Amino acid sequence: DSGTDGGNASGPKPIEELVVGFAQVGAESGWRTANTKDIQAAFEDAGIELKFSDAQQKQENQIKAIRSYIQQGVDYIAFSPVVETGWDAVLNEAKAAGIPVVLTDRAVDSKDTSLYVSFLGSDFIEEGKKAGQWVLDEYADATEPVNIVQLEGTTGAAPAIDRAEGFADVIAENENLKVIASQTGDFTRAGGKQVMEAMLKANPDIDLVYAHNDDMGLGAIEAIEAAGLVPGQDIKIVTVDAVHDGMQALADGKINFIVECSPLLGKQLVDIITTLNDGGTVEPRIITEETTFTQEQAIEALPDRQY
Ligand code: AHR
Repeated sequence: DSGTDGGNASGPKPIEELVVGFAQVGAESGWRTANTKDIQAAFEDAGIELKFSDAQQKQENQIKAIRSYIQQGVDYIAFSPVVETGWDAVLNEAKAAGIPVVLTDRAVDSKDTSLYVSFLGSDFIEEGKKAGQWVLDEYADATEPVNIVQLEGTTGAAPAIDRAEGFADVIAENENLKVIASQTGDFTRAGGKQVMEAMLKANPDIDLVYAHNDDMGLGAIEAIEAAGLVPGQDIKIVTVDAVHDGMQALADGKINFIVECSPLLGKQLVDIITTLNDGGTVEPRIITEETTFTQEQAIEALPDRQY
């Protein structure tokens, strides 16, 4: 079908000679830490050299890292773009150098899809819809306005844009569901706490927090408790990720529902690279399989969680 050719005209390179450059977003969340560990372990297991850089959530650092991989003549570049826009120039440089690029986790908004071979990661709009569906069901019988506050991820990042969109689409079905405040907490625990503190001061009557990731939800829990309220009861909390600390808070009743976003992309990324190296074809879009967790499901799942 519409799969993309890796363009390996000279035949496969021996695995031990392959070099892949990976430009990571940063270490902003438990999700990101799990993602980095999984990718590094998968390449080590496969015996493929991985050059790794951490952009500390700054696009200019990521662009520098990609340029340096191009200069070093790596065989493949993989990266998780911190924001959606502004990649065409550097991706064109990789293309001109003949280095295939794989997007992992987050998308770019480039119109020119020849700038990357494949995009491996979650469907963030779907994640936002799942969060919205829980809220819609939970408040199906509400006869009064439900005051929702939203803790957004990094401004301009695909998961922040898409999780807001999917959520808004679904809750629009019930006019009692109102997002009364929405601000970025940059996907960090400290950011979530700070924004929640300000929101609690400005809005005396918050019913529910929708946080774009567990870490911001965990920060919000601290702020809610500090304000003398009970998270999960006085204020309900819905988050995305299902990392260990989030799942523990869900099992403890402090979070009400979590939409899973899997950080375990390492093995699939290695598969893409080895397939391309063998001259094979990969799908242009590979969507991660994910589920959702209620409090009861979290208690059951926690002992076997890998991260
Ligand atoms: O891009 C995935 C998102 O980035 C995760 O949901 C969040 O925790 C991370 O920082």
